[in-house]
This record gives sequence, C-alpha cells and structure tokens, in this order.
Amino acid sequence: MAPDRIDLNAVPALPTLNAAALPPLCFVGGGNMAVSMIGGLLAAGLPPARIRVAQRNVVRAQALRERFGIEVDADPAKAVAGCTIVVLAVKPQQMSEALSQFSLPAATTVISVAAGVRVASFARRLPGCHIIRAMPNTPALLQAGMSGLYAPPDTPVQARAQAQALLAAAGDTCWVDSEAQLDALTAVSGCGPAYYFKLTEALRDAGTALGLDAALSARLALQTFIGAARMAAVGDADVALLRQQVTSKGGATEAALQSLESGGLDRMFVDALRAAEQRSRKRGDDLERSTTA
Ligand SMILES: NC(=O)c1ccc[n+]([C@@H]2O[C@H](COP(=O)([O-])OP(=O)(O)OC[C@H]3O[C@@H](n4cnc5c(N)ncnc54)[C@H](OP(=O)(O)O)[C@@H]3O)[C@@H](O)[C@H]2O)c1
Repeated sequence: MAPDRIDLNAVPALPTLNAAALPPLCFVGGGNMAVSMIGGLLAAGLPPARIRVAQRNVVRAQALRERFGIEVDADPAKAVAGCTIVVLAVKPQQMSEALSQFSLPAATTVISVAAGVRVASFARRLPGCHIIRAMPNTPALLQAGMSGLYAPPDTPVQARAQAQALLAAAGDTCWVDSEAQLDALTAVSGCGPAYYFKLTEALRDAGTALGLDAALSARLALQTFIGAARMAAVGDADVALLRQQVTSKGGATEAALQSLESGGLDRMFVDALRAAEQRSRKRGDDLERSTTA
C-alpha cells in the first residue's frame, strides 16, 4: 500500500460531530467558499462568536461582519490566534503568501479547500498540524455541494470528525483513501456541475433546432433535468434502472439513446474525465514545484 494510502475500512467509525459543537475556528480567506460554509455552520447552530475570518479585502470584510455578525481581521496571524480549527479558503495561487503570514501550534486541525495544493506543502509550512484536504464543488454555495475529503493515515479521528462536520455544512461529504484520488474525484464532482450545464445547454439547443421557441426549450431542458435528478435522488433505484423504466421498446426515448450510444457518449465521458484528472494532477505538480522552488 502506498504510504499516503489508508484503508478506509480500518479507520474507526467517525463520531458524529454536530457542527454546533465545533470549537473556535478561523477561515483564512473570506470569499465565496468561506461564505457558503459559514452560512451552513451558522444554520447548523454554531454560535457566531466561535467563527473568525481573516479577510484582507475591506469591502468583503465589512460585508461578512454585517451579514453574519462574526469577527473579521485583515491580519491572518491575529485571526487564527486561539483557534483549534483553521480553514484555508484562499485561491491556490494565494496560498503560499497566506501561509507565510501566520504560524499555528502543533495539533491544530487545518482544513484546506484549495484545489491542487498538496498535504506535503502544508506539512512543510505548518509542522505538527493535522492537515486535511477537501475538494468541494460549486453547489456548496447553496449548501448543496459534494465534498471529497482526504486525511493522511496518522490523522486523529477527532480531526477527521471536525473536518467532516465542517464540510457537511456545505452539503454531502465522502472520504477518499489516497490523495491521488482527489484528482479523480475532482474530475467527477469538482468539474461535474459544468458537465450538467453543458448537457442542459445541448438539450436546450437541440430543442431549438427542432423548431421550439428558444425560451420554451430552455425551460423544458432545465426543469426536465431538475425533475429527473430529484427522481434519482429520492429513491434507491440505480439510475440505469430508472433509464430502462422510461425507455419503451421501439419508442422515441430508445431511438434517442441509441443515437447517443452509437455516437460514443460513454467513451466521450471516460476520455473527458481522464483529461480532467490529468489536468488536476498537473496543476498539483506545478503548485508543488512552485512552493518547493
Ligand atoms: N468557489 C467554489 O465553488 C470552489 C469549489 C471548490 C474549491 N474551491 C476552492 O476554495 C478556495 C477559495 O475559493 P473562493 O471561490 O472562495 O475564492 P475567493 O472568492 O477569491 O475568496 C478568497 C478570498 O481570500 C482573500 N485572501 C486571499 N489571500 C488572503 C490573505 N493572505 N489574507 C486574507 N485574505 C486573503 C481574497 O482577497 P482578495 O480578493 O484581496 O484576493 C478573497 O477575498 C480556492 O482555493 C478554491 O480552489 C472553491
């Protein structure tokens, strides 16, 4: 087994940690992702006094204070002082600078949501801290996200439970057993919202090509995908079974699906996800090189 690989079945079951019970925590970077997570944490009952933010942009800092009633400081060193959980929510290219602005006591739980920045980079800058990486996706902004989490094998259960409770404030969560799998997860759920938008666009434009009014076709495409997604989410049935149930032999749906299959839709998705995974890995390699240079 690779050194960064963990047997998820061997990890003790995580204690259920209510977000309302989280200890004082600080977000370094108070942008879109931090706002969505803070909104979720407050909705889950975490008192505003337990959340601090380091945000250098004065307009955004004031907006955070007014919206959430939380403490915001421009200086990350002041903001993180006394916090047992620190969430790194700056852009990947801003991370190196942010990490140079503060230090943390050993055993602080550090959760990074930055795409591509690897555990090794954080471990060099924050020795002794428990580093956990999370890969959320854009629907987290509506607390409807899907976040993948990775923690190195020696991460204490308590730190894992804290990370899970925190990301659960932005939607659903899952764990992967190696850091490399975050690249595959990025290809599926990180980039996934864009695939959905592209498919909706294609359905809308194809409807228009058949002569439907453009606005009507857009509405049909949007609501059809929303309705189908809800059907898939509420029941236990596999999506393949749901597809079979709406595909009558010799019917219109079958004709459309046969056309998609002969056009190579499944293969196109495999190729697309491979391309996304490779790009994600390369971005991680580039960031790793730039931080060790
Ligand atoms: N948004 C998403 O849907 C999404 C999805 C998956 C992962 N992520 C990850 O989440 C992270 C944050 O993304 P975001 O969309 O929330 O970005 P964002 O809106 O740009 O927020 C980052 C904020 O942090 C501030 N900041 C940067 N360096 C700072 C420092 N040293 N001290 C204090 N404040 C600092 C920035 O201020 P300035 O404006 O002055 O630079 C900005 O307001 C990224 O690493 C991204 O990879 C985001």
